[in-house]
Amino acid sequence: MSVPSTEIESHAKSIKVAIVGAGSVGVTTAYALLLSHLAAEIVLIDIDKNRALGEVMDLSHAAHFAHAKVSVGEYENCAGATAVIITAGVNQKPGQTRMDLVKTNYGLFEQIVPQIAKHAPNTILIVATNPCDVLTKAAYELSGFPVQRVIGSGTAMDTTRFRHELGKHYGVNPRNVHAVIVGEHGDSQLPVWSLASIAGMRLEDYCKQKGIAYDEDAMDALSKRTREAAYEIIQRKGKTNYGVASVLVSILEPIITNADQLVTVSRVGDYAGVEGVALSMPCKLNSKGAHQDVELLLNEKEKEALRRSATSIKECFDTVAK
Ligand code: LAC
Repeated sequence: MSVPSTEIESHAKSIKVAIVGAGSVGVTTAYALLLSHLAAEIVLIDIDKNRALGEVMDLSHAAHFAHAKVSVGEYENCAGATAVIITAGVNQKPGQTRMDLVKTNYGLFEQIVPQIAKHAPNTILIVATNPCDVLTKAAYELSGFPVQRVIGSGTAMDTTRFRHELGKHYGVNPRNVHAVIVGEHGDSQLPVWSLASIAGMRLEDYCKQKGIAYDEDAMDALSKRTREAAYEIIQRKGKTNYGVASVLVSILEPIITNADQLVTVSRVGDYAGVEGVALSMPCKLNSKGAHQDVELLLNEKEKEALRRSATSIKECFDTVAK
């Protein structure tokens, strides 16, 4: 955690976070948030009240160690929340793409988002439900919120996996790897190789300095592992939850501590000539939301890949938008 814990605790006193969806991602996020000491109050909302109450009863025994209050709520309990995280929806079954979920989850958002907007008109929406980029645009339209207050977890998850893989490959802590995945949180995502660096050196220069070969095939395999990680995890355990829950808390932290931190999150914008689409680029996160503060200097190949990613997200959105 980048901010000294005493400072976070002072932030926490006034912080309330609501989580819509008491499935595995929602409750793991609630648990990760509890352990982060970032919030004083966590409200869990789910259509299955019995299940939500069971999760909250269990979480409240962990809350004891985290000085936070966890409760089951209704949408009116989103009032005053600094952020509302939406995890509700069906998730991928083995072999399904994230975009395969769009019809069901868009329909759910049509019910959920207006309720949140009604009771928490000044909150920041954080969308985790897939297809994340399409539903970030849906949440933007259904809430009527300004664009910076509707954030999708997006490729923050993929960038985390990418840095983890690169750190393993080069034998350095992932925190020392500056490399991002942008575009769709899904199959059309793109690694920005041209800007990837370790110790301030582009990867090829880093390899030269260390007298090792820059292995293109290994890099291709590594970005494939990153892109397909969720498929493999879902094939083995039926879902993903720990990685995305920690990523959601890592998105909340700069919002709660007003840290102006650059994170690759999904936000509605115009990208590579495609207008009004949500996808992930590095955004500056602070208490006001996600700000497009920096435009990456992509090379022509990366620009074309980004255009393809934006087009695929827009086409998926157009299949459900009214
Ligand atoms: C994953 C889900 C959150 O990538 O899309 O784990």
